[in-house]
Amino acid sequence: MPFSQDFLDELARRNDIVDVVSGYVALTKRSGANQFGLCPFHGEKTPSFSVNADKQIYHCFGCGKGGSVINFIMEIENLSFPDAVQFLARRAGMEVPQDGYDADRGRRSRMLELNRDAARYFHSQLIAPSGAPAQDYVRRRGIVSMVKPFGLGYAPDGWQGLTDAMTAKGYTRQELIDAGLARVGKKGGLYDYFRDRLMFPVIDVRGSVIGFSGRILSDGEPKYLNSPDTSVYSKSRSLFALNLAKKSKNGYILLAEGNIDVVSLHQAGFDSAVASLGTSLTADQARLIARYTDQVIIAYDADAAGQKAAQRAIGILQPLDLKIKVLKIPGAKDPDEFIQEKGPQAFRELIERSGNQIEYRLEETAAQFDLSTDEGRLGYLRAAARLIASLPGSVEREIYGVRAAEKVGVSRDAFLTEVARIRRQNAAAARKKETRDATAPLQAAQPKDRSLRFTNVRSAVAEEGVLALMCQYPEQFGDLPLTADDFTSPALGKLYEALAGQIGRNRSVSLAALSQQFSPEEMTLLTGICQRSELPAHAAEQAMKDYINKIQAEKDKAARGRDMRAYAEKLKQRKGYGHKDGS
Ligand code: UTP
Ligand code: MN
Repeated sequence: MPFSQDFLDELARRNDIVDVVSGYVALTKRSGANQFGLCPFHGEKTPSFSVNADKQIYHCFGCGKGGSVINFIMEIENLSFPDAVQFLARRAGMEVPQDGYDADRGRRSRMLELNRDAARYFHSQLIAPSGAPAQDYVRRRGIVSMVKPFGLGYAPDGWQGLTDAMTAKGYTRQELIDAGLARVGKKGGLYDYFRDRLMFPVIDVRGSVIGFSGRILSDGEPKYLNSPDTSVYSKSRSLFALNLAKKSKNGYILLAEGNIDVVSLHQAGFDSAVASLGTSLTADQARLIARYTDQVIIAYDADAAGQKAAQRAIGILQPLDLKIKVLKIPGAKDPDEFIQEKGPQAFRELIERSGNQIEYRLEETAAQFDLSTDEGRLGYLRAAARLIASLPGSVEREIYGVRAAEKVGVSRDAFLTEVARIRRQNAAAARKKETRDATAPLQAAQPKDRSLRFTNVRSAVAEEGVLALMCQYPEQFGDLPLTADDFTSPALGKLYEALAGQIGRNRSVSLAALSQQFSPEEMTLLTGICQRSELPAHAAEQAMKDYINKIQAEKDKAARGRDMRAYAEKLKQRKGYGHKDGS
């Protein structure tokens, strides 16, 4: 194992979770060992984010996120496990042991150096006389002044330009392959991955070059080539130009689709433009954005695909409580074309005139109906009323309700009455769901992560009970008559084994050490279990017995079920023979 258990225990001891979390979250409420604040991982108005000083865990009762102090730093600082350990070690003034992940760290920083050297090489190739094709291209696209701030480059048309230059600098064959900069050819030699392309370095918020995106200079395919994910680059967690956009004073992030759009926008003075790289917007990217702003303006392409992608992006940004606006780009296919043709001032006006997402969605809704017919108007009204009924504020409902009513020429009162009716309906449905959840607590206990879902919910509830009690009273339950195989949920079984191991060794539980071995989703599952309402010590013994009996009973039931099926199978076969005999 890369870090020793002792080291991680010490790291957790010296980084009290309450202290660490307090640096990011104002903990305003207290209840026993729990302190509460507003969750940094999802938008909320009342605190449901808890930190437990006894168990040294955090858990959000709203979004379900949870884990150890190391998981918290991974999540909030967007760091890998080893980097989060490094971060906390530095915070506590500790030395990280010189083995294990250190070799990995060395490799990672070598890869970042290689990427930086490659970016320098590409840049020098662009400004050299031989870079004429790329110079012509940036001139034609009107982004010459952005070559320097973006560190744009040119991957020449040969097969080995970069490979040779980097080899001369002492990088190995394997390092070039691992960084996604070179590939192995048929005869075993290396060739450059990027050739005859305009190169956009991808730079993270700490200023490291983590990957590249290369646009072809002509009309060939693929238009863009992106670095593969490497140990320093994850496309789904990175945004192009966020390193620049995070310094902007705009107060919003402009989210575009294309690299060229971003560069063009920055040149026109919109210095908070970013784009995702060859993927549609992910939740990780949305969270990254939410660290730097509370308002996002989506400026996707004008075509149908772009508008569909914008709808998707709204769905991903909305849970983070970001203000969202969506730009419609009239008379051009994308922001770049719009700015090149109509100038920055016209784009500024687009931003100023742009509606928020409700206006945008109302417009989208209107476009689906033929408003010149009664039927179409009715359809629009129904859909618009549903949309407006979902708004939390009554003022907003009034404003947009009136607007929608005017659009199709019905009375404002009739429209708002319809909205009120839908709200009553929704409220009734929510109440019904609540009772259903209360009467089916077993189903409600399913983890959010699909891969961790339980097959036998009845047993899984007891299995969770066992883990909860172990977390609460480790000294009492060091030696239980259970093995991981008794658990119907493999995830819970694995967690049980790890907890039992820890308790067996130290009579205590350290979740920080477990974060190394388990995924953030598994840690979330575990801390959610540990943060359940607690049992008083005198009841714990009996509860544990009940849980174990339940697990045993479910196991017997399953075994009987198997026996029954086998018996039925046998009967069927015997009958088959009987048939033969009789004929
Ligand atoms: P676009 O085709 O809109 O790119 O793709 P663009 O940057 O606006 O290019 P121009 O204006 O035609 O020159 C949007 C984004 O989708 C990804 C790239 O990140 C690109 O910037 N993409 C596109 C790929 O990853 N691969 C492709 O082959 C095409
Ligand atoms: Mn484009």
